[in-house]
Amino acid sequence: MDCGLKLFRVLKISFRTRFCFYYCYNKIMKHVELSYTKDLMPTLGLGTWQAPSDVIESTVYKALDLGYRHIDTAFNYNNEESIGRALKKWIDDGKGTRTDLFVTTKEMELCQREGLIRNLGLSNFNEEQIRKISKSSTIKPQVLQVELHAYFQQQGLRKFCTDNDIVVTAYAPLGSPGAKDHFVTKYNYSPDTFPDLLNLPPVKEIADKHGRTPAQILLNFLVQQKVVVIPKSTSEHRLRENMNIYDFELSAPEMDLLKKLDKGESGRIFNFLFWKGVEKHPEYPFHIEKIDSSKDKH
Ligand SMILES: NC(=O)c1ccc[n+]([C@@H]2O[C@H](COP(=O)([O-])OP(=O)(O)OC[C@H]3O[C@@H](n4cnc5c(N)ncnc54)[C@H](OP(=O)(O)O)[C@@H]3O)[C@@H](O)[C@H]2O)c1
Repeated sequence: MDCGLKLFRVLKISFRTRFCFYYCYNKIMKHVELSYTKDLMPTLGLGTWQAPSDVIESTVYKALDLGYRHIDTAFNYNNEESIGRALKKWIDDGKGTRTDLFVTTKEMELCQREGLIRNLGLSNFNEEQIRKISKSSTIKPQVLQVELHAYFQQQGLRKFCTDNDIVVTAYAPLGSPGAKDHFVTKYNYSPDTFPDLLNLPPVKEIADKHGRTPAQILLNFLVQQKVVVIPKSTSEHRLRENMNIYDFELSAPEMDLLKKLDKGESGRIFNFLFWKGVEKHPEYPFHIEKIDSSKDKH
C-alpha cells in the first residue's frame, strides 16, 4: 500500500522527490506525508458536522471498524464527547492504538511543543494569513482545511500550499448536501443558492461510465489531485461507499471535464456571513468584495 512512502523515508530521499516518485508509481494515494513529523495522513477522513451526538458514537466506531483512521472534529459540532467515547472504546476493545488514528485539530503550536498533539493544522486561512502565521511561529502548519469541491476548486490556494509543503484537506467535498436544510431552516437562506453536485450531468455521466456513484467520482476527483477529503456520513452504506474510491482512475479528459465545473469564488458555500458583521473583522479570510452578497449565501 503506502510502504513506498515509508521506504523513501528510511532512505532519506527528499520530501519532494519522494512525493514525485510515489505519485508516478501510484496515482491515487491512500496517504499523504506531512512535512514536519513525516506522519502519513489518510487521504480519506470522516466528517462529523451535523452528526447528532447520540448517533456519532456508533458511527465513528463503525467507521473505525471499516478502516477509517482519520476523524474530523470541532468543538462547535457539539459531538466531540461522543466521538471521544467511540475512540476510547475502540482502543479499549483492543482494535488499535491512538497512534493509528488521525484526529484533526486546529492551529495550536504550544500543544504541539508540549507533545499533546503531533501536527499543526489550520482551517479557513487565506494565503496571506498562512504566510503571516508561518513567519510568526516556529513550527510551520502542515495541513490547511478549507472548503473545496467541484464548484470551488481553490486552484491558487492549492498551488501555494503545494509550494509550501502544506497538505490541503477538502471540507464539503460532496458540496455539503446537508447544509441546505440546515441554513435554510436555521438562518432563512435562499434554497436556490446551494449546489447539487451529486446530480450534475457530467458527474453522473462519468459515474455511469465507471459503474460508480456520483459521490465516489467527486471524492476520487479530489484524491487523485492529492487533496485529502473528509465526507461526512452517518449511514453505514455511505461510509462504505465513500471509502471505495481508490480502485479506479479518472482519465485525463474526465478530470478536465470536472475541472471545468469550477465556479471560482462564486462556488463558495461557506462564507460564514450568518455571523452578523463577521466580514468586517480584519482577519475575515475571504475576499468579501468578490462575493455576490445578493445571493445571500452563508
Ligand atoms: N473547517 C470548517 O469550517 C468546516 C466547515 C464545514 C465542514 N467541515 C468538516 O468537513 C466535513 C464534510 O463537510 P460537510 O459535512 O459539510 O459536507 P459533505 O461531506 O460534502 O456532505 C455531507 C452530506 O452528504 C451526505 N452524503 C455523504 N455521503 C454521501 C454519498 N455517498 N451519497 C450521497 N450523499 C452522501 C451526508 O448525509 P448522510 O450523513 O445522511 O450520509 C451529508 O448530508 C464536515 O462534516 C466537517 O467535519 C469543516
